Amino acid sequence: MDNIIENEELNQSENTVAAPEKTEATRKVFIKTYGCQMNVYDSDRMSDVLTSDGFTKTDSLDDADLVILNTCHIREKAAEKVYSELGRIRKLKAEKAKNGKQMMVSVAGCVAQAEGAEISRRAPIVDLVVGPQSYHRLPDLLKKAESGVKVVETEFDIQDKFKHLATPSKEAVRKRGVTAFVTVQEGCDKFCTFCVVPYTRGAEVSRKVEQIVMETERLAAAGVREVTLLGQNVNAWHGEGPDGREWGLGELLFRLAEIDGIKRLRYTTSHPRDMEDSLIAAHRDLDVLMPYLHLPVQSGSDAILKVMNRKHTRDDYFRMIDQIREARADIALSGDFIVGFPGETDQDHKDTLDLIRRVTYGSAFSFKYSPRPGTPGATFEAQVEEHVKSERLAELQQLLSSQQKDFNTSLVGKTIDVLFEKEGRKEGQLAGRSPWLQPVHVNAPKDLYGEIGTVEIVATSANSLEGRLV
Ligand code: SAH
Ligand code: SF4
Ligand code: F3S
Repeated sequence: MDNIIENEELNQSENTVAAPEKTEATRKVFIKTYGCQMNVYDSDRMSDVLTSDGFTKTDSLDDADLVILNTCHIREKAAEKVYSELGRIRKLKAEKAKNGKQMMVSVAGCVAQAEGAEISRRAPIVDLVVGPQSYHRLPDLLKKAESGVKVVETEFDIQDKFKHLATPSKEAVRKRGVTAFVTVQEGCDKFCTFCVVPYTRGAEVSRKVEQIVMETERLAAAGVREVTLLGQNVNAWHGEGPDGREWGLGELLFRLAEIDGIKRLRYTTSHPRDMEDSLIAAHRDLDVLMPYLHLPVQSGSDAILKVMNRKHTRDDYFRMIDQIREARADIALSGDFIVGFPGETDQDHKDTLDLIRRVTYGSAFSFKYSPRPGTPGATFEAQVEEHVKSERLAELQQLLSSQQKDFNTSLVGKTIDVLFEKEGRKEGQLAGRSPWLQPVHVNAPKDLYGEIGTVEIVATSANSLEGRLV
């Protein structure tokens, strides 16, 4: 998660998988990613599977023999973007066909899971629809689609996917760089009344400790220094340990911290209901666990929290934040907010602003409520007018921006640790992250790549920090 305040437009990250070395003889795959980090992780794993099957990646749609849109269903705009992109691809596919070339088109991700066969009906150029739990079977599914059959694969086979993830190939881990995601948990049982995730990602399922350790060890051996554990409700993770007991996330973090080479751990996204004491204790006792916590609250009004089915009150949230800050005083908090949920009054909105003032966030994401088909919220009366949502969002984002700015400014003059993960914006610079996830740009020698440097912060801009090596 980038440490910036985003609106609903910007939060649909469109990460094109980076271009590799190209070999003319092999087939090329273009992957476009929408939505959350889980999709970013999944896109990389799709790319791994296809690379083993003889594909190379391309960042040019024109060059592609296979196009995959890894989609997001969370808000209406996110889902609609897919269809406009398919319109663009339709023309390209037709042009290629004229020149005797085949271009296969696949829709993956949460729109694929939610809409299934409906996608190929609405966009007949789609050859293959594949849900988030079947990516490891892409080569086979693709062969079937290439024979001219429309393929729709949205069956849940999560254990099979998990098994596949545990043992990434040497070639796949080599591409990971300094920081990497590791999915530990998928799905959601919470059924917040606004949200499609329980329908697109299925029930909460946790990977086993051994599988996670195996994947992380391979990553660390290949040079990964920071691992972010991913899950739709990552702190609901309860996986089977090697001792046959069920472990919690705090315990897992301690185990991963023992792996040689791992210098930093993070996890996202957490639900307030699953913030166990042992996880809070890990923030107190585990140095490699970074002092940053994304803990979405969505609203500061008890009435709205109740109709959202969040199953906690604002006071529960305040108590939890106090406990977390007691364990780790320098922790930076991040969150998600929805404005304009059905029935939200001016007073409810004020309660959210008040909660933000009391908690003080280092960064946050905020969205206008988008009614989603199949969710209870879409059928609620008292939908809030669009212009009211816009006004509330602007007010909320202004407050969150100023908190983020204050937080960044408070670091100027301080000396902090930075994990260097790539080349910087300017010649001679390296870019890394602070413990609180802000990007930091520093003049530094290339051999610090993958290392933690001590850096004095000298300036800040809206979303990043500038520092010098101490
Ligand atoms: N599991 C995470 C969030 C997953 S979705 C959690 O429980 O916090 C990411 C964010 O998208 C949510 O936190 C919420 O703020 C936003 N979101 C989800 N459904 C939405 C909708 N229908 N309209 C607007 N925002 C939504
Ligand atoms: Fe969606 Fe709520 Fe589940 Fe988060 S906890 S994924 S917001 S249903
Ligand atoms: Fe979107 Fe699916 Fe993630 S709906 S936010 S891509 S879990």
